[in-house]
Amino acid sequence: MTSKSVVLTGITTTGTPHLGNYVGAIRPAIEASRRHDVAPFYFLADYHALIKCQDPERVRQSTLEIAATWLALGLDTENAVFYRQSDIPEITELAWILSCVTAKGLMNRAHAYKAAVQANEESGEADPDKGVTMGLFNYPILMAADILLFNAQQVPVGKDQIQHLEMARDIAGRFNHLYGEHFVLPEAVVSEETATLAGLDGRKMSKSYDNTIPIFLPDKQLRKLILKIKTNSLEPGVPKDPDTCTLYGIYRAFASKEETAAIRRRYQEGIAWGEMKNILFEYLNNHFRAARERYYALLESPEKIEAVLQEGAARAREHSVPFMKKIRSSVGIRPLHRP
Ligand code: TRP
Repeated sequence: MTSKSVVLTGITTTGTPHLGNYVGAIRPAIEASRRHDVAPFYFLADYHALIKCQDPERVRQSTLEIAATWLALGLDTENAVFYRQSDIPEITELAWILSCVTAKGLMNRAHAYKAAVQANEESGEADPDKGVTMGLFNYPILMAADILLFNAQQVPVGKDQIQHLEMARDIAGRFNHLYGEHFVLPEAVVSEETATLAGLDGRKMSKSYDNTIPIFLPDKQLRKLILKIKTNSLEPGVPKDPDTCTLYGIYRAFASKEETAAIRRRYQEGIAWGEMKNILFEYLNNHFRAARERYYALLESPEKIEAVLQEGAARAREHSVPFMKKIRSSVGIRPLHRP
């Protein structure tokens, strides 16, 4: 492939992208998509989505929304290879081959699986594996295939994914030991400085807490949600602490240093919560206005998104098809006779 180092990450296609996703993952990835000193590979992990979501319409809708979001926000698809996991059949093929060298005991230790078992035990359930599909159990192997197929060196992920990267290295090492040095051992890149945002209730903004603010809400709905953000009950005119305030945390993730400093002063002077909510609404509404227009236009033209993804898949397969042929051959799956 290319001699540049491969930076690869996947986005599971469940749910609608929210401001927390934007600040923590999408924005840094889009910035990195313009870097010409690396080869960025970004993909929509729709086979991973099936583990969590068995509603076909939601899987499709989420794939559409996430692709539209990344494109509307300025992903550089000339440089980055942007594709959908299910368009690369070599990924699932490799997942099987990898599963044949992966110790079951390694998968038993995966956090997501262990958490499911623990929940069953705590609820007095007789079967510790109740509700655990093989998809959930094999999840780390599919993720290893995503990564190893492209010989990715760097994998930007959240902290909760570090164990999966360790497993991918483990699996790669085992395969290399058995069949020769085919795979690069990937590294997790966990950025400390990317902000985490608080959500409507003040806890970390997350789908699982149902406290998110979607990125591209129409303005009326955006205003409504911002009005819902929890604050303390300090009156106007009373100095307030910005550093424990959700509104300020969100504002700071978007505003310049000067704008942020000016708002800090307003907190000291005792800004009213109503006014601060208004400022935050106006700021976000302006900040995302152009991208939001592009987003809704893209949703109206899914054929444009599809074409971008097909092109990304073709570029990805320039590597994955010949590489997979090599992998297949290395394990003994090869023609019996070459004329
Ligand atoms: N498991 C990742 C998550 O939930 C998504 C993902 C799937 C991924 N395959 C990947 C991330 C490969 C990085 C590399 O966030």
